[in-house]
Amino acid sequence: MIERTQQLYEGKAKKVFATTDPDLVIVSYKDDATAFNGEKKGTIVGKGVVNNRMSNYLMEKLEQKGIPTHYVQELSDRETLVKRVTIVPLEVIVRNIAAGSLSKRLGLPEGTPMSRTVLEYCYKDDALGDPMVNAYHIMAMQYCTQDELNTIATMALKVNQFLKNYFKKINVDLVDFKLEFGKTSDGTIVLADEISPDTCRFWDATTHEKLDKDRFRRDMGGVEDAYKEMMKRVLGE
Ligand code: TMP
Ligand code: ASP
Repeated sequence: MIERTQQLYEGKAKKVFATTDPDLVIVSYKDDATAFNGEKKGTIVGKGVVNNRMSNYLMEKLEQKGIPTHYVQELSDRETLVKRVTIVPLEVIVRNIAAGSLSKRLGLPEGTPMSRTVLEYCYKDDALGDPMVNAYHIMAMQYCTQDELNTIATMALKVNQFLKNYFKKINVDLVDFKLEFGKTSDGTIVLADEISPDTCRFWDATTHEKLDKDRFRRDMGGVEDAYKEMMKRVLGE
């Protein structure tokens, strides 16, 4: 019987607890929401439940497709047992359609399809505002090795292939998303963190209505309803 012990970490949207098994931790999802590196704060009622359940469901599907993840077992609506990993300090962003910071940076109207998939890396550091870095920075700063980065890029593109097709079937365009990867105690790179409306841009494929955290970031209203709608489409409830 694995039991929860002390809190290891509290982030902006989740808490992490140690367990009696040194290779496993429990993640607990909060309803707290932040944007713009914590400048904007709020609550999205029920978000923790949606993100936990949706992320677990998708990680299970990805495991079935041969992509290793940190997922072990859903414990409750908000809590999940995951493998203990050392997080590679990179936000890996995958883009299919221009939006957000890419639209701003390159002057591309939001909604412009990218002629090929775009991968970006940001160094995870709140004090620096998660600056974008390239493979040379990553090697020079030793955020991970070249082999690990190759594995991460290959996995990110595979995740995109699966998720894009999966969401298409529920009439959702997967515009872009952010992934994080971790290293287990034996050095294996696994998909970690979450896949949820907090970390993806989801647009209804017919109406182009936003069904993700941009509704919170941009004060559009209907935030909770958008999360609920995505839960309904993915989990059928
Ligand atoms: P961006 O357009 O703001 O760079 O965001 C790209 C994607 O990454 C989008 O789906 C939202 C997600 N994202 C996060 O999950 N966390 C973050 O801190 C940021 C800035 C973006
Ligand atoms: N991670 C961002 C923050 O620090 C939130 C976001 O825009 O997704 O608040």
